[in-house]
Amino acid sequence: MEQTLLPTVLLAVLMIAKTVQGQTPPGLSPSTQTHLGLTFGKDIIPPRLGCPLTKADTTSAPLLTLHDVSRDSTYLAFMIDIDVLYQCSTTSLLHWYEPDLKPDIETGSLVASHRTTSARAEYGGPAPPLGTMHRYVSFLFAQPPDYVFPEQFMRFMAPTIPARLGFNLSQFVDAAGLDGPVAASYFTVEGSEGTDVAESRMSVTKSSCFRTQF
Ligand SMILES: *[C@@H]1O[C@H](CO)[C@@H](O)[C@H](O)[C@H]1NC(C)=O
Repeated sequence: MEQTLLPTVLLAVLMIAKTVQGQTPPGLSPSTQTHLGLTFGKDIIPPRLGCPLTKADTTSAPLLTLHDVSRDSTYLAFMIDIDVLYQCSTTSLLHWYEPDLKPDIETGSLVASHRTTSARAEYGGPAPPLGTMHRYVSFLFAQPPDYVFPEQFMRFMAPTIPARLGFNLSQFVDAAGLDGPVAASYFTVEGSEGTDVAESRMSVTKSSCFRTQF
């Protein structure tokens, strides 16, 4: 899917408009009204909050951008699928956890800096089951200077679906002592047929007992 960048003026207007609505799906906690910019590949940007992208669009981690980035802050980011059906109940799957993000003041982009914390969850692209539409929510939090990764969440860092299943962001936020999210955003992906090259490493390593769920 090819998309051209919107003219700067229009983009500015959209950014202002986006600050007055919640940036996470209705009913989801935590939430924030500040928009987190997502750019996949060179120029794939979800055109509106909650808009569908394809598996192929989202095969690698997005570039994150923040309008009012704070020069001295360090951030950490998550991406979570909140529509996973497992054993007849809905649960969440961690797709990405990236700490130690530093702002590029010129562009507002958040770039991985030298690591001060070891744990991270490598990005795994969306691959929902055929015929289902899942919501992928991205969150940005301020990473405190004395941040310590909560050890009990280490099991979620492995790049497999069984390891990532059942991740509870609220519990992580509590355990890590984080403040509310600085920004958030979400998009959707519909499950499609076929083994395209976009299939993420995570979906390739899924175990057969989870196959029908993703
Ligand atoms: C996460 O945990 C909190 C309490 O620890 C609970 O209230 C909430 O329902 C959980 N969220 C999910 C999606 O399971």
